[in-house]
Amino acid sequence: MNAVATSEKQGEVGIITIDSPPVNAFGIAVREGLHGAINAFKADDTVKAIVVICAGRTFFAGADISEFGKPPQEPLLGTVFAGIEDAGKPVIAAIHGTALGGGCEFALVCNFRVSVPSAKLGLPEVKLGLLPGAGGTQRLPRIVGPELALDLMLSGRQVGANEALKLGLVDELVPEGALLEGAVAFANRVIAEGRPVTKVRDRRDQLDAVADKAPIFAAARAKAAKASRGYMAPENIIKAVEAAVTLPFDEGMVRERELFVELRDSTQSAAQRYYFFAERQGGKVPGLPADIALRNIAKVGVIGAGTMGGGITMNFLSAGIPVTLMEMTQEALDRGIGTIRRNYENSAKRGRITTDEVERCMALITPSLDMADLSDVDLVIEAVFERMDVKKDIFSRLDAVAKPGAILASNTSFLDLNEIAGATARPESVIGLHFFSPANVMRLLEIVRGEKTADDVLATSLKLAGKIGKVPVVSGVCDGFIANRIMTPRREQCEAVILEGTPPELVDKAIYGFGFGMGPFATMDLVGLDVINRSEPYRTVKQDLLDAGRRGQKSGAGYYDYDENRKATPSPLVANIIADVAAERGIPQSPPLSQDDLIARTLYPVVNEGARILEEGIAIRASDIDVACILGYNWPLYTGGPMFWADSVGLPKIVAELRRLASIHGPQFEPAPLLVKLAESGGSFTG
Ligand code: 3HC
Repeated sequence: MNAVATSEKQGEVGIITIDSPPVNAFGIAVREGLHGAINAFKADDTVKAIVVICAGRTFFAGADISEFGKPPQEPLLGTVFAGIEDAGKPVIAAIHGTALGGGCEFALVCNFRVSVPSAKLGLPEVKLGLLPGAGGTQRLPRIVGPELALDLMLSGRQVGANEALKLGLVDELVPEGALLEGAVAFANRVIAEGRPVTKVRDRRDQLDAVADKAPIFAAARAKAAKASRGYMAPENIIKAVEAAVTLPFDEGMVRERELFVELRDSTQSAAQRYYFFAERQGGKVPGLPADIALRNIAKVGVIGAGTMGGGITMNFLSAGIPVTLMEMTQEALDRGIGTIRRNYENSAKRGRITTDEVERCMALITPSLDMADLSDVDLVIEAVFERMDVKKDIFSRLDAVAKPGAILASNTSFLDLNEIAGATARPESVIGLHFFSPANVMRLLEIVRGEKTADDVLATSLKLAGKIGKVPVVSGVCDGFIANRIMTPRREQCEAVILEGTPPELVDKAIYGFGFGMGPFATMDLVGLDVINRSEPYRTVKQDLLDAGRRGQKSGAGYYDYDENRKATPSPLVANIIADVAAERGIPQSPPLSQDDLIARTLYPVVNEGARILEEGIAIRASDIDVACILGYNWPLYTGGPMFWADSVGLPKIVAELRRLASIHGPQFEPAPLLVKLAESGGSFTG
């Protein structure tokens, strides 16, 4: 026993309570404490059954993710679990909060499971690039069958206690707030009835229920290939479940271990584990006092009911926060509110929310055509046209009507927040809240801290981000902030290489192959070239395409030709346009770049920009940049984001390639001083 494990006896029931905040992860202290306590009760003949319960907010949250990569310390989880399985007396898991990963696997090792109705169980290892490595892949299929086990492990989704009861994952529900009493009563019944102490490992009924399992595995592979292209963990999970079906339990465990170790030692899993902590770091700002008094945000105002304003509004409505939504004209207001309603109704049709919830959210909107109506809100978010004069006018008028202490936020994606704040007499209350489109869906919120933004305004915004389900990343003021700024070089280089002789489809293939959802040219065709075009002082391919009526998918042609099913094929006409533009601009032609060269050419400059963002202090830490790119630009999660990826590629290699590119294409490729410094000193961005 130790500080995290306490034992007591109630009659013939031994109770072990684990208390290891914040989430009772299976770190070394928990493993030692639990193992010792189980062994003590095992040796105590007056104890006829054992209940294991956790203190605090949740049951075991699984293995301690921060211990991966460190030398393993006995007792390992497998040792602890073997001790439970061989306890010789019934062990009962008493579950509240979430039993996740190793926590859920622990429950499966126990002979019985009781839980409160609000509890949830799940095996989310796939999200960390892992598989359930403490017997989960072998035991779960024995309880729920291979098909559902695959679904749960491949999605990582959590199962509520009621569903778990139906599935046989949980044996009994006990009332909320009475878990220990319920579990002890259950244990006493088990003792009194002399119930056989069955082990999940000994069951085969669910495994043998379906004779031909090949279609189950084929379907799982087909689904994983689509939903998680490029990820290693799904295939290993499938292989482990195949082992559960075909091999005796102990051999299945050996196979699970091999497949687990392969994942654990992979760069992918290291990246995904890094990302788990990166997301949780974003909300932490050095120097911000932990006990700072926050401003109360009970009511919000949003200016602009267009796509952004409407999406922003939905975040607050869904969190139960009333919104005064302001527009210039009744027509725009009606259109915006109509879109919000339609979005909610679509969610209801898909069963994500109830129709009551639709009405509850809609009832929280107060429509307005008059800025004076914003005088009672605690936070205003402006989401209007991206023009400095328009924004300054709005902020100076807002300043006059908003109540003292109200936070004035802009959703600008690139304008100078300090200049906007300067249009008010309260620059300390001005902040940037940069949502990504669609704002009700995308999880990233860039919080832009102006030079005068007060600490409590920043702290309040960070807290609010959590409340509305966003992942915050704090950015300083610069053109494009973190996400848009860092991804600009990728766009520029993709546009440059097609003019040097690499066709758009090869560029798209390279970027898609790297793991992005789509290549840049296919994306531009999807969004619409007219939407993203900007005037340049020289002739551009995009402008020529627009002049030829090629606006993208919606006009049947853009960088590609599209058939009636929107299937893309490369266009000879586009090839001619590219050649023309290149000739007129005197751009030398070279043979098409290889996949590797394309990745280096288009993504190393992103890393370089990330280094500049860090050295300028625009981002607090490299992991914030990674979170911004993964959530804002769909950068493939299994690479960990550009900065983690750079570290895994090797910074000296990136510096050398950037220098080579600079010698050919010009100083924009010169590596940033921070990048050079880290490369030369053997340092890293994220290590
Ligand atoms: N290991 C180490 N630290 C963990 C952890 C874990 N498994 N789970 C959570 N934490 C830490 C977080 O980093 C955070 O730390 P911080 O306060 O310093 O930022 C703190 O605990 C609280 O976490 P959250 O902010 O996420 O708290 P929530 O209340 O929002 O969520 C949770 C709680 C649902 C348990 C969520 O933390 C979670 O999903 N955790 C991960 C669960 C998981 O993936 N388990 C599988 C682990 S791998 C495994 O078990 C392998 C096995 O098969 C062998």
